[in-house]
Amino acid sequence: MNAHAENGESWTIAVQSPRAAPAIDEQANENDSSAAAPPEPELDERLPASLLIMPATDLPATRPAFAETLRRDAWWMQPLVVFLGFTAFIVYSTWAAFQNAHYWFEGGGADYLSPFASPEIFGASPHALFGPKPAWWPGWLPFSASFFVLWIPAGFRFTCYYYRGAYYKAFSADPLACAVGEGRKTYLGERFFPFILQNFHRYFFYLAFVVLFLLGYDAWKAMWFRDAQGAVHFGIGVGTIVLTVNVILLSGYTLGCHSLRHLIGGWRDKISKSKCGGCYNAVSCLNRKHMMWAWVSLVWVGFTDVYVRLCSMGIWQDCRLF
Ligand code: FES
Repeated sequence: MNAHAENGESWTIAVQSPRAAPAIDEQANENDSSAAAPPEPELDERLPASLLIMPATDLPATRPAFAETLRRDAWWMQPLVVFLGFTAFIVYSTWAAFQNAHYWFEGGGADYLSPFASPEIFGASPHALFGPKPAWWPGWLPFSASFFVLWIPAGFRFTCYYYRGAYYKAFSADPLACAVGEGRKTYLGERFFPFILQNFHRYFFYLAFVVLFLLGYDAWKAMWFRDAQGAVHFGIGVGTIVLTVNVILLSGYTLGCHSLRHLIGGWRDKISKSKCGGCYNAVSCLNRKHMMWAWVSLVWVGFTDVYVRLCSMGIWQDCRLF
C-alpha cells in the first residue's frame, strides 16, 4: 500500500504482491478436509514471468498541464476535423442566408425549394406562405427568407447532445480529449447560465420535427413537373433525388434524438412493459449512430442548398430522369 500526497490531494495505491497469494493457498489447503487432492501448482508457476517481475510504481498525483498527455495517437485529429467541418458549414450557411436569392429553382418545370428557406414564411418565391417581404420590415435591417426558419435547425443542432460534446472539444478545448490535460480546473456542468440554456433542446426538437414534415412536403412537390401547357406530371429529376435524400438523412438524425428517445419511452421505469417498446427500440437504433446521422445530414443539407442554388444560377443543369 503506497500513500502519496501532493497539492493538498492524497492518493492511495494498493499494490498486491503476487507472491503473497501462495500463503493463502497453503492456509486453505490446511483447512481443506480433502487433503488427498493433488497439490495446486505454485503461483509462480501459474503466472507469466512478466507479471512476477512487475515493479510497484507510485503514480504521479499532479494535474497535467493543458494539452499534456501520455497518449501517442493523433488525439487532436478529431477535434480539428470537427472544427474545420463546423466552421465551413457555419460560414457557408450564414453567407447563403444573407444572399436571399437563388434558393428555389423552376427551370424545366421543376419545383425545388432549398431547405435553407423552407418553410418560406415571407419571400420572393412562389412558395412564400405570406407573400414577399412585408412592409413593416425595417429598412435598415437586412431581409432574407432564411431568417424566418434557419434559427430552428441551427438551434436544434447547436443544443444537440452529440454536437455539444463535439464543439466543446473543437471550439473551446474544454475538455480537449480523453486523458489530455485541460485548461480549466473546475467543472460546473451545464447547470448554470449560459449552458443551462442547452435544455431548450427538447423544445427545438418539436420545432425541428414540424420542419421535417414540411421538408418532406417539399420533396413531394419536387416530384411534379409543369409542362409548357401548364399541366403537371409526375417525374424524377436529380434535384428530386437530392431533396428526397435530404429528408431521409434528416429523418435519421432527428428521429434518433435523445429527447425523442426519452419522450417515447425513456421516462418509463420498465420499458419492457411499455406499449411503445417497438418505437423506443427504433429510436434507440437510430440513436446508436447519432453521430453518423448528424454528420451526413449536415453535409447533405448544405449540398442540397448548393444544388438548388447552382441550378437556379444556371451553373448546373438539372437532369430529368423521366
Ligand atoms: S440529441 Fe442530437 S438531435 Fe437531439
